[in-house]
Amino acid sequence: MGKKLIVYYSYTNNTKKIAEKIQMATGADICEIETVKPYTGDYNSVVEQGKQEVDRGFKPAIKPLNVNLGDYDTIIIGTPVWWYTYAPSVATFLSKYDLSGKTIIPFATNGGWIGHTLKDIQNSCKDAIVTNAIDIRFDMDKMVTPEANLNGWINCL
Ligand SMILES: Cc1cc2nc3c(=O)[nH]c(=O)nc-3n(C[C@H](O)[C@H](O)[C@H](O)COP(=O)(O)O)c2cc1C
Repeated sequence: MGKKLIVYYSYTNNTKKIAEKIQMATGADICEIETVKPYTGDYNSVVEQGKQEVDRGFKPAIKPLNVNLGDYDTIIIGTPVWWYTYAPSVATFLSKYDLSGKTIIPFATNGGWIGHTLKDIQNSCKDAIVTNAIDIRFDMDKMVTPEANLNGWINCL
């Protein structure tokens, strides 16, 4: 499938843990999306700020990626679910970078309400092949999706 890159955003590290597990298993390159302005305050205030950002379609500035996307055929994109869709920082990534012609494999960590996240990624990557998406459920920082399901998915990457 050519060269693979894992690109992810993570606020409370669930998505980061999965991204690192994929990296260990596949040897793919890995790159974190970071906002220029960090989210601050307690968890509930970030949940509220996230709602306002998702509702407005806000795209926060993100730091430049330290990779050249042109080097990769397959991009594994990881996002937490924020208000039934991908995180605003991932919205910035998807709008800023040209993913046309690439194979996109999404994974979305969430607390049980994935909403339209995977469909939204599909719609935002119109000129790419979006395939093999996975919904990974957590209860706070504990993974609820069976480990075997995740491992089975990783083995197919
Ligand atoms: C702003 C915000 C909005 C969230 N909205 C949802 C949601 O709509 N559905 C859901 O199942 N979980 C939601 N969650 C929970 C996260 O998706 C879940 O904890 C995820 O695994 C966090 O990933 P992270 O640790 O990589 O940031 C939300 C969390 C935050 C901070």
